[in-house]
Formats: sequence, structure tokens, C-alpha cells
Amino acid sequence: MKHGTPASPVSARRSQSLSGRARVPGDKSISHRSLMLGALAAGETRITGLLEGEDVLRTADAMRAMGARIRRLEGTWLVDGVGNGCLLEAEAPLDFGNAGTGARLTMGLVGTYDMKTSFVGDASLSGRPMGRVLAPLREMGTQVLDCAPGERLPLTLAGPKHAAPITYRVPVPSAQVKSAVLLAALNTAGVTTVIEPVPTRDHTEKMLAGFGAALEVAMAADGARIIRIEGQGRLRGRAIEVPGDPSSAAFPIVAAVLVPGSDIVVENVLLNATRTGLILTLQEMGADIGLLDRRDAGGEDVADLRVRHSDLKGIKVPAERAPSMIDEYPVLAVAASFAEGETVMEGLDELRVKESDRLAAVARGLEANGVDCSEGEASLVVRGCPGGSGLGGGTVATHLDHRIAMSFLVMGLAAERAVTVDDGAMIATSFPDFMKLMQGLGASIG
Ligand code: S3P
Repeated sequence: MKHGTPASPVSARRSQSLSGRARVPGDKSISHRSLMLGALAAGETRITGLLEGEDVLRTADAMRAMGARIRRLEGTWLVDGVGNGCLLEAEAPLDFGNAGTGARLTMGLVGTYDMKTSFVGDASLSGRPMGRVLAPLREMGTQVLDCAPGERLPLTLAGPKHAAPITYRVPVPSAQVKSAVLLAALNTAGVTTVIEPVPTRDHTEKMLAGFGAALEVAMAADGARIIRIEGQGRLRGRAIEVPGDPSSAAFPIVAAVLVPGSDIVVENVLLNATRTGLILTLQEMGADIGLLDRRDAGGEDVADLRVRHSDLKGIKVPAERAPSMIDEYPVLAVAASFAEGETVMEGLDELRVKESDRLAAVARGLEANGVDCSEGEASLVVRGCPGGSGLGGGTVATHLDHRIAMSFLVMGLAAERAVTVDDGAMIATSFPDFMKLMQGLGASIG
């Protein structure tokens, strides 16, 4: 949302059964990386299924500003890359809007270039910690200039003449931090090693290997993943088919589970094991989710998901599962609000530093809609109300957070009374056609 744009509230009401087939937009993580690696590679990268959400479009603009040629031709995105090591200095600050992934990964990408790059973003992004990415970059030789207090945007990076390869043990379970170091390594002579004690989404590793980077992944005795990458190699443009985003699919999936009589199919959903925590958790709670036509699409596992209304039971969600469903806790909390008994979610520290403090935003939203819940430092306990009687009737503060908005609209489809979110504008960052897609399945939203 642009500064000063009035908020646009949206409401969802209890709906008739949802039915039909839907295709969610391309995976956001893979979309950002496709543009970045395409921009860097020599030759052409052709991307189909790219998420055309605001976050990803900001990344496209940033890559253009550093020399890549990017255009859209009949639904396919064509990227002419500059060649590894050949990004140009951007003339103006790169504006990443709401996008943490775009900003943090690009910091890695440019942090080892002998040039200055400035980063700005919206109020949400400007409140998020960047120190987690700046720490390893400083070890590689990057200087951080003009940084807002608390290591936040706006900030400017100045890379060294010759970056130093490092061995970095990622201190928080963050794919963004891991990825920033791996991308910084691309313009660094020698071997950079990233040790990841808790596995997070592995798209950067997989895609770097696909573009021809010299990268290998090993497993340490303690279960940590060790990723080694040799810098300054050649990256070659390639074709990429972006599968459907499981984090977007989460909304119609939970909606169909909650609304009585529903039976839908969500097509072409990415099932990479680092991303399937929500599906597994919903299945453990009793959700009827079937995987149809499981197949390989450009090296990723995908399937069509058939989802039917189900009665849910509360469970304890294992804390170690958190990285594989980190963006799905808001909508899981909504599902838990309709389950019989208690759902316990732990290990949620990272939710505090997402587009909003998601733990607090979810707890306040649940309370506003009559859900009995307890918010801990890094945990959330939800005591559900099967059938949703007595639930709803509240207005939820979304704090510039797309996933808070979509999660509570899903709640409204099954709650006794309507649920309103104070602003639907941010939904366009990750799921521009959310409303249309949900209405197409029969949801009363608008
Ligand atoms: C992402 C990683 C996750 C996730 C974000 C996308 C990525 O963030 O929440 O939406 O594409 O690497 P962290 O790595 O900071 O947990």
C-alpha cells in the first residue's frame, strides 16, 4: 500500500459448501529466486507460472535496475541476465515494498560487489530486523552505511574490492539468511560454507545447482546441513516452471476443511518436503486431504490436492516442524479455532519478525472473534469451538500483513458471524487473485 492510501476493509461471511477446482499462483520463494538467478546468469531464463504479486514485481524492478533485461511475453517471463559477477550499480535506492525475501536475498546478492546499493521498503519492511543478514555479510567484507536504528531499512551497503569466503553457521532457522550468504558467495573467490543446524526451505540450493553453480550439500553427524559453494563460477540461464505456492494454497485448503459440505481440488501445489508442514498437521488433526496425480515438475514434487470438509481435533504441533510451515501458522490457528479441544503450537519465535508480529496479530484477531486462546513468548494455544457457533463478529487489525488478512477472511467463511479485516490491500503482495479465486469456489467474501 502506498503511503497515505486509505485502508480497504473486507468482510467474509458464513458460506455454502465450497466446490470446484482452483489453481493458486506460483510459489513466492521460487519466483523471487527465478528472477534473481535469471538476472545473474548468462543467457536467457524463461519463467512460466511466476507469481505476479507486488513483492515479486519489486524484485523484477530491482534486477532491472542492476542491468538485467526482464519482460513478459504472453504469460512467460524472459530474463536476459548480466552474467555472474556483472551486476551494475543501481542509480536509485531499491524499493522492496513489503517484501522481506526480496530485500534480504538482494542484500546478499549485491553485498559482495564493489558498489553501493541502497534499500528502502514500506512501514512493515522498515520495522523488520536486517542484522541477521548484515552479520555474515560484514564477515565477508560488506560495509553497512546509513542504517536506521536497530539495523533496519533504509540502509546502504558498500561491498569490498575482494570479498572473503566464510564458514557461517546460521543462528536462526531462516532460509533468507542462508540464501543471502549463498548468493553473496557467488561473487566471492573460493568456497563459502553455510551450516544449517535446522533445515529450512531449500529452494536456493536447488536452484543454484540448476543454474550450474558448483554447490554441494552434505549432512553433518549432528544432522546439520552443510552447504558448500564455490564462487565466481558460470551461471547459465534456463527454463523454470514455478509450481503453485503451498503457502497460498493453505487458504482455500483450510476454507474447504472448515466449511461444511465442501469438496475442492487445488491444482499443481508444490510439495517440497521443506514446505509441507501445514498439510501434514491438518491431516493429523483429521482433515481429509488427498494427493492426486503426484508428479515431478522441473525437479520439484507437485500434486493436485483434493480437500473435503472434515471435523478437526486439536493436537500438539511439534516445534521442530515450524520451519516447514512458518508462514502457515496464522491460518492453522484459524483451523484450530474450529477444532475439538486444544491445539498447541510451539517454537514460534520467528513469527514475531514476519510482515507483522504474527503471534500477537493472530492472538488479537482470535480474541476479537471470540476464540479462546493463550499467547506465550513463542507459543500459541487455541481452544476450538467445533461448528464455529459464537465465533466471528470482530474486526481484525492486519498490520500491513497479507497472511493475517487472508487467514481471518477464511475464518469468516465458517464462523457464525461475519469477520472483517481492516485492510485487504496487502493481499496483492502474494495472492492478487485471492478474492476472485475464493469467490469462484463459492466463498462469500468481498
Ligand atoms: C522465505 C523464507 C521464510 C518465509 C518467507 C519466505 C524465503 O522467511 O517466512 O515468507 O523465500 O526464503 P525466513 O527465512 O526469514 O524464516
